[in-house]
Amino acid sequence: MTEKNKTFEPLIEVRNLTKYFEINRGILGRHKDYVQAVDGVTFTIGKGETLGLVGESGCGKSTTGRTLIRLYKPTRGEIIYNGVDLGSLSQKELVPYRKKIQMIFQDPYASLNSRMTVGDIIGESMEIHHLARGQERQKKIYELLERVGLSKDHASRYPHEFSGGQRQRIGIARALAVDPEFIICDEPISALDVSIQAQVVNMLEDLQKELGLTYLFIAHDLSMVKHISDRIGVMYLGKLVEIANRNELYDDPLHPYTQALLSAIPIPDPEVSRQSRRIILEGDVPSPINPPSGCRFRTRCAYAMERCALEEPEIREVKPGHFVACHLMEDKIAD
Ligand SMILES: Nc1ncnc2c1ncn2[C@@H]1O[C@H](COP(=O)(O)OP(=O)(O)OP(=O)(O)O)[C@@H](O)[C@H]1O
Ligand code: SF4
Ligand SMILES: [Mg+2]
Repeated sequence: MTEKNKTFEPLIEVRNLTKYFEINRGILGRHKDYVQAVDGVTFTIGKGETLGLVGESGCGKSTTGRTLIRLYKPTRGEIIYNGVDLGSLSQKELVPYRKKIQMIFQDPYASLNSRMTVGDIIGESMEIHHLARGQERQKKIYELLERVGLSKDHASRYPHEFSGGQRQRIGIARALAVDPEFIICDEPISALDVSIQAQVVNMLEDLQKELGLTYLFIAHDLSMVKHISDRIGVMYLGKLVEIANRNELYDDPLHPYTQALLSAIPIPDPEVSRQSRRIILEGDVPSPINPPSGCRFRTRCAYAMERCALEEPEIREVKPGHFVACHLMEDKIAD
């Protein structure tokens, strides 16, 4: 259950989602390895809800998003969208879902075709999905530009003529052009100035209320997802290690990795800041080609014990709606 959305009705249910990338190594590429980018991730997003997804670079956030939308074929697992298993659909059967599910990206410049006008960028998918043509299309482009805080005069300009924040608005208008239900926001504010980040987040929230949208909001760190998320999931090296309601996660983080991520957020109040202990994570993130046995976080965890190398901790409900994958939680579950 979330704050915005008191009656929880699932829109998307991801069960045991796994994506391995095959890579060739050795002379003539004869030796095959697998990047275990996402490994057995399970979560649900309710209609009208925002699920934040955080974790360090390379932990599998974008791969989760891209596999959800079937840009990548899952290695294993199920993606149930409004009761339909997307994994069982052919490319043709997936077409309506490519309209319902849209994605916005970290680097809007790279994802906008520099040779097309803004109007054509926004209008292109309307034509692909046979939604609007001619005058009607033009009218809708102007409406969308205004809805994202730009003006209709911008339709005839090219992406390079805009600032980073404005380009992100163009990316959002393009996603909205096909009347989506679900938007995967892949680090949409990470590349923007701090002053612009709040504007984009506020706009996404307004659009959500107005249009009843559901979001998966991906970010590097917990400070960026706090405002917008109803619930937050934390990933480490391809695994979902903790997921809980936003306030619950900030007030009572239970996984040692989440605790470290939270301790890295600067606290504006000097009194509180002095009392709180900063947890420094030692070492680098291990390779997803050959991840540590047992708990993947064990090489950097201050609490690691023998069992952590031998047995992988399952993600389990430790408190109502609060799921954690850590052997330390057993006492809590027993309480
Ligand atoms: N197409 C691909 N082929 C092989 N490996 C890939 C591919 N895409 C991603 N990876 C690897 O999968 C892992 C997860 O990558 P992913 O892009 O999902 O991480 P991320 O959490 O989104 O990181 P970032 O915060 O830097 O965007 C990384 O080790 C990455 O190198
Ligand atoms: S399972 Fe072990 S290594 Fe992993 S987070 Fe918990 S205590 Fe640390
Ligand atoms: Mg990414």
